Amino acid sequence: MKGLILSGGAGTRLRPITHTNAKQLVPIANKPILFYGIEGLAKSGITEIGIIIGETGDEVREAVGDGSRWGVKVTYIPQHEPLGLAHCVRIARDFLAEDDFVMYLGDNMLQQSLSQLVENFRADRINSSLKCRILLKRVSDPSAFGVAIVNEQGQVVELIEKPEEPPSDLALVGVYFFSSSIHQAVASIEPSVRGEYEITDAIQGLIEQGIEVDFEELQGWWIDTGKKDPLLECNRLVLATIVKKIHASSSVDSTSQLRGKIQIGENSTVSDSVIEGPVVLGDNVIVKGCKIGPNVSIGDHCSLVSSAIDNSVLLKGCVVVQAGCLSSSLLGRSSKVSGTSANSTSSLMLGDDSIVEFR
Ligand code: TTP
Repeated sequence: MKGLILSGGAGTRLRPITHTNAKQLVPIANKPILFYGIEGLAKSGITEIGIIIGETGDEVREAVGDGSRWGVKVTYIPQHEPLGLAHCVRIARDFLAEDDFVMYLGDNMLQQSLSQLVENFRADRINSSLKCRILLKRVSDPSAFGVAIVNEQGQVVELIEKPEEPPSDLALVGVYFFSSSIHQAVASIEPSVRGEYEITDAIQGLIEQGIEVDFEELQGWWIDTGKKDPLLECNRLVLATIVKKIHASSSVDSTSQLRGKIQIGENSTVSDSVIEGPVVLGDNVIVKGCKIGPNVSIGDHCSLVSSAIDNSVLLKGCVVVQAGCLSSSLLGRSSKVSGTSANSTSSLMLGDDSIVEFR
């Protein structure tokens, strides 16, 4: 079985970060979202992974490399325009050949490990007519997702993309299991009204041909990190699982207090500050006279002085000096926020190299 990770797309909902960054490389607990997906596939025993890349392809190639660090072989598949999820399967035809594969949306995060799901599909494909499995999750706002109608035999009867009046609360999660029969289906569909080749149309095509499509209901949380608030929620959920780890080369002075689960990378210094976990600080971070946490991830080479930060993600190289309280914020690389001694609270979403000066 092979893996196909979708890491192209436009990422319009995460602008301005995605003007300069691949959204799949935004860090959750200081690790790029995409790495969680690669790790999950590798742990499932999948060794050949195709990654669809778009405009931000160079950055993805640089971050991921050849996959050897996870014990997998990565093949990059450039997509000239984000023409839809089914288009990604089309252009991966040569890579996928006749193999079964799991397709994984590179900006999605699951609590449940992929291993059991992959194993279940592998086992159920043997001696059965099953050709495709989707993952479903009950959600409170199904109209924002692809929605499935299923029958009592556990088969999928119909899929509808973002219905105004959802016929069920079962949303399609961004992980799909396919056999080679999907190739004919993706070759047969036309673009939808929004101009994309929809994977839901291709799967619907399979169903209409009488091909067996079933589903598994996902356990635990699932987050499409493509917008700021879900991304911060995902950061919170992953931070809840960290263990305390402070690198020996980092220092915390005696006037500082560390409470709860905190990770500090190499060569970082904390002085005159309170850190309330869960919090992750990267390498070469300076924290002075601050209150940090809970639920904060700070990238490498950030300097934080005389400020408070909670429920936020700061990418590497940010400088925050006398910024009052930053809450529910996402700061792009090398952003600078400064200028108020007041205790005001701000919620910011900044692209790389942004400068915010409060007055
Ligand atoms: P989406 O989040 O559905 O689309 P998008 O990345 O274009 O984002 P936005 O709606 O904010 O503009 O994509 C899901 C995942 O699939 C994401 O990791 C990007 C990837 N993708 C591709 O690689 N190629 C495509 O043609 C599309 C539509 C998405």
